[in-house]
Amino acid sequence: MGEMEDFPDSSVELVKDNFRQPLKYVKGVPLLKYFAEATETLQDLQAYPDDLVVSTYPKSGTTWVSEILDLIYQGGDLEKCRRAPIYIRVPFLEFKSPGVPSGLEVLENTPAPRLLKTHLPVSLLPQSLLDQKVKMIYVARNAKDVAVSYYYFYHMAKVHPDPGTWDNFLQQFMDGKVSYGSWYQHVQEWWELSHSHPVLYLFYEDMKENPKREVKKILEFLECSLPEDIVDRIVKHTSFKEMKKNPMTNYTTIPTDVMDHNVSPFMRKGIIGDWKNIFTVAQNERFDDHYAEKMVGCGLTFRWQI
Ligand code: A3P
Repeated sequence: MGEMEDFPDSSVELVKDNFRQPLKYVKGVPLLKYFAEATETLQDLQAYPDDLVVSTYPKSGTTWVSEILDLIYQGGDLEKCRRAPIYIRVPFLEFKSPGVPSGLEVLENTPAPRLLKTHLPVSLLPQSLLDQKVKMIYVARNAKDVAVSYYYFYHMAKVHPDPGTWDNFLQQFMDGKVSYGSWYQHVQEWWELSHSHPVLYLFYEDMKENPKREVKKILEFLECSLPEDIVDRIVKHTSFKEMKKNPMTNYTTIPTDVMDHNVSPFMRKGIIGDWKNIFTVAQNERFDDHYAEKMVGCGLTFRWQI
């Protein structure tokens, strides 16, 4: 566990309590133990119509779109966006950990208009978000890059169970036995929701291909306009290179015992197609067959490379 003695007693407890615990199922969805507990009170959320939800399956560009949104909300003021780490500026709805305020508590103390982040599948969303017709931005990323990114994240973020070998992890991902459950179900449920609720459904690959076009889509969805030079500034400031070196977006403010960037940085590669460096030919064939079964007829198309 390395340098635990550098942290006050409460942090030591926090790290121990969270270290590689098994997942806990809520309505069939596996979640981190404390996040599972947090879902018990999430229905207490009082959503406001001017809230904005950022939703993703993990490792799909949550931090990226969150930073874009905070910049939009701050009119492109880079200094204002350095006021706190991204996980404080955009509270994490289902976050819970001993000794620190829960996502819900942070959110209750956040002035409107609020941004909030979640990875929850639609079935676990607080009803109030739906009733209040709260706008939501969903980012989806191709499953192979998500699986790879998640594998590295499991290694570095020790709140997750031990990922085991890559082959083992990939199988768990395909079986929906990783934190937040099935990627296939998640992207499809959110796609369905976008037909009846104000959800802007974005793709990580589109954001990589043409970030300015996607920022403009977000502005349109928010019915907000910004001068061209501010839009350019937002695009520049939210490039992978900029966000990787920015302590307010790269998660280096989290204690090393919780997230160890020496194992794998949070801002790892930020590319499309890294899966090709890790999938074996056999794994790729197995994955493609399974993918075809799971995604048949859903109307969603992902790009594995551009
Ligand atoms: P990789 O592990 O493939 O590098 P999330 O924020 O949902 O946890 O997603 C993290 C993934 O998004 C990581 O992917 C991370 O590097 C990537 N990412 C974060 N900021 C990015 C940016 N500005 N541009 C491109 N990718 C980014």
